[in-house]
Amino acid sequence: MKVTVCIGSGCHVKGARKIIALLQRLIAEGSLPCELELEACFCQGRCTEGVVIRLNDEIITGVSTENVEALVRERLADDR
Ligand code: FES
Repeated sequence: MKVTVCIGSGCHVKGARKIIALLQRLIAEGSLPCELELEACFCQGRCTEGVVIRLNDEIITGVSTENVEALVRERLADDR
């Protein structure tokens, strides 16, 4: 699954870098049940709803270090 994290200035201020660090740690630990391809992107035009990520092609808003792992795991479970 491809996870794309917006690193535009609005999402940066809301903690995009911490979300990327958390995802990198989960990938390094191998604690997710599938391989993740992690990418960064620039502003997705929804800055007030950040942090914005895309799971494959689905845009998800309001992402934080508190909910990103659960969001990814839910999506992985749905894809099975
Ligand atoms: S900075 Fe992330 S949507 Fe604009």
